[in-house]
Amino acid sequence: MRLRNVPHAKRIIARHPDKIVSLAGDEDIVLNDRFPEEKPLEMEIGTGKGRFIHTLAKANPSCNHLAVEKFDNVIIRALERVVEDPLLNLLLVRADAENLKNFLRPRSVKRIYLNFSDPWPKKRHEKRRLTHPDFLAMYKEILKPGGRIEFKTDNRKFFEYSLKTMNRAGMRFLFLSLDLHSEERLDNIMTEFEERYGKDGPIYIITASFEEDHNEENVQGTA
Ligand SMILES: C[S@@+](CC[C@H](N)C(=O)[O-])C[C@H]1O[C@@H](n2cnc3c(N)ncnc32)[C@H](O)[C@@H]1O
Repeated sequence: MRLRNVPHAKRIIARHPDKIVSLAGDEDIVLNDRFPEEKPLEMEIGTGKGRFIHTLAKANPSCNHLAVEKFDNVIIRALERVVEDPLLNLLLVRADAENLKNFLRPRSVKRIYLNFSDPWPKKRHEKRRLTHPDFLAMYKEILKPGGRIEFKTDNRKFFEYSLKTMNRAGMRFLFLSLDLHSEERLDNIMTEFEERYGKDGPIYIITASFEEDHNEENVQGTA
């Protein structure tokens, strides 16, 4: 059996309230207000061990960043990284993504990153896919006008499924590649999964927005 929420991990999390919050779903907390400075907000959902979001937050000090992960014993790996190299613009959040709307101001997020999200291939688990229509509807509420979702995966079927759900949700496709690593994209930040599985086959990526006005420079309130 794979241990998911070990008490040991909970104790470690409790020691670092300035770096990580653990949310059951009904707490009265506004994550936007948990940073020392108000800045545009970016977020990775399903952050795993946190390499991507830590690298992004370090390279991008003009934004605040949330790293959302469901499991204690996974996010403590990200916490180790943040304890070793603390960043004031990065907050780890141990929560199930389905509760995120309770903790964020509407229309307040500039970017959502979905990196190598679990594909949940069985039909009966479809609702758990982070690009399911219910999740997309939630992202629409929390994203700023012009805000973007960036989704990358090595799973072709999951990618095709996500293109369909995004298309049906009325999203505009701004950038799409069926082989990210063959593109000259200097801004790509490798995730742990990308490093591990990127050699086995192509990585698929899509950046999409709900709005007609998809120019991020025009997004209100973003610096
Ligand atoms: C396949 S891993 C990818 C980790 C990392 N993004 C990477 O690319 O290396 C997917 C992660 O998403 C997390 N996850 C899945 N469903 C989630 C949900 N509903 N809310 C928060 N995290 C979730 C899993 O626990 C897992 O750590």
